[in-house]
Amino acid sequence: MSSSRGFKRAGAFALGLVATGASVVTAGPCDIYSSGGTPCVAAHSTTRALYKAYSGALYQVLRGSDSTTLDISPLSAGGVANAAAQDTFCNSTTCVVSIIYDQSGNGNHLTQAPPGTASSGTDPGGYDYQASAIGAPVTLNGQKAYGVFISPGSGYRNNAASGTATGDESEGLYAIFDGTHYNGGCCFDYGNAEINSGDNGDGHMEAIYFGLGTGYGTGSGDGPWILADLENGLYVDSSVSVNSNESSITSRFVTAVVKGNSDNHWAVRGGDATSGSLSTYYSGIRPTNGPYNPMSKEGAIILGIGGDNSNWAQGTFYEGAMTSGYPSDRTENSVQANIVSAGYGVGALNHGPAVTVGSAISLRATTSCCTTRYLAHTGATVNTQVVTSSSNTSLQEEASWIVHPGLGNSACYSFESVDTPGSYIRHSNFELLVNADDGTKLFSEDATWCAQAGLNGQGNTIRSWSYPTHFFRHYDAIGYAASNGGPSDFDSTDSFNDDASWVISDAFA
Ligand code: AHR
Ligand code: AHR
Repeated sequence: MSSSRGFKRAGAFALGLVATGASVVTAGPCDIYSSGGTPCVAAHSTTRALYKAYSGALYQVLRGSDSTTLDISPLSAGGVANAAAQDTFCNSTTCVVSIIYDQSGNGNHLTQAPPGTASSGTDPGGYDYQASAIGAPVTLNGQKAYGVFISPGSGYRNNAASGTATGDESEGLYAIFDGTHYNGGCCFDYGNAEINSGDNGDGHMEAIYFGLGTGYGTGSGDGPWILADLENGLYVDSSVSVNSNESSITSRFVTAVVKGNSDNHWAVRGGDATSGSLSTYYSGIRPTNGPYNPMSKEGAIILGIGGDNSNWAQGTFYEGAMTSGYPSDRTENSVQANIVSAGYGVGALNHGPAVTVGSAISLRATTSCCTTRYLAHTGATVNTQVVTSSSNTSLQEEASWIVHPGLGNSACYSFESVDTPGSYIRHSNFELLVNADDGTKLFSEDATWCAQAGLNGQGNTIRSWSYPTHFFRHYDAIGYAASNGGPSDFDSTDSFNDDASWVISDAFA
């Protein structure tokens, strides 16, 4: 009897399909974890429902124009997020992700992370910043959705989660990340952390980490890698510092898995979220260089930060979940098959009037004070200056820029100074500067800009790729990468849309 029930369950599990009227909805990742006996206790995604029956809110956006919010739900139960509702709500203003809802029913929602012992939080309220709602466009089987683009200084947390593993209880974690968005800062994590935002010692965390970070072990090559943040150390092995089972991650979309059992056993797995299966990088005993056995998990949930609110990392999160119990490899393999079938693809980062690579352009301010002023530079300082076709050549060249594929992401743009070849507009401390390309990853990302329709309806607004809540803005005739409200005077919301909208034309020179 019991074996025939088991067989029937395995059959439905393997098929993973449930007919609902005319349409067929596939079992989601959390249906699969449930079938495997390790149900999700937290399920987060801004791109899609993680249960076939889930039709509630996926996330909430907060818009800059009037500080009102909107919940974004799937288009249908089990389906892809209604990105069009976000686009309509956020039209002609800026939006951030204010809540990532828990789909598991446990109420384990993620919100702006509070200060921690490592960092007091960076926004004016002392919390971490919230992510731009448009920094990480994707498609799922062709349908548009948005991920959560974490820049340094931003992060989400829930320090009062329920149902998550504590102490040495077992759990599983998976997440889908952008394999091209990372850095070496601590710590782009998703998973289990301290409930007081402090570093409470080895074994007080069990989270997935993605990036270049070193803190105990890495995979082979130059990175990035999927590692486990177990507190005071990032691991993908318990005894060797370079685990050659894991090479540098090269796929655009990454499935990352970390799981911890209650019997001195844990594992790290990963793969390409768009094809193929998961590899096991490590499965074995806990690290012996600290009190990692038994574990002292606390059950809070972090996204984009370390356990102590170390908030210097960057990365993109599309979906993820935490389970109760140690999922089998077989269950995770079925989750990976579901992820592949979700059909993640790259979304468009640019909108509005076309910006042409290879062209030379000038950018005219549109604020009523300043419609004869153009984005220019004096030495390293980016400013606006009044320029006409009868201005002298050097002034015309100061206001002229060559459009290149973005140095940090070729889907967007970099702007090279016509009169200073090899120097580009970059942000540093959110001021715009013209600096020589020094070949670093930080420079290339600081110098990468995406274009969207002008916030005031004129021309283009130019958005930082690496900090998509920041835009080209003139303020007292100086150029900044400003946010629509923020800690600096140049973040003023007064005339933000006008100051951040530029009419692009052929270059003066
Ligand atoms: O384990 C790496 C990091 O170390 C943790 O995320 C953080 O809490 C501590 O600073
Ligand atoms: O402009 C913000 C940051 O400031 C840049 O990414 C970095 O170069 C500087 O620290």
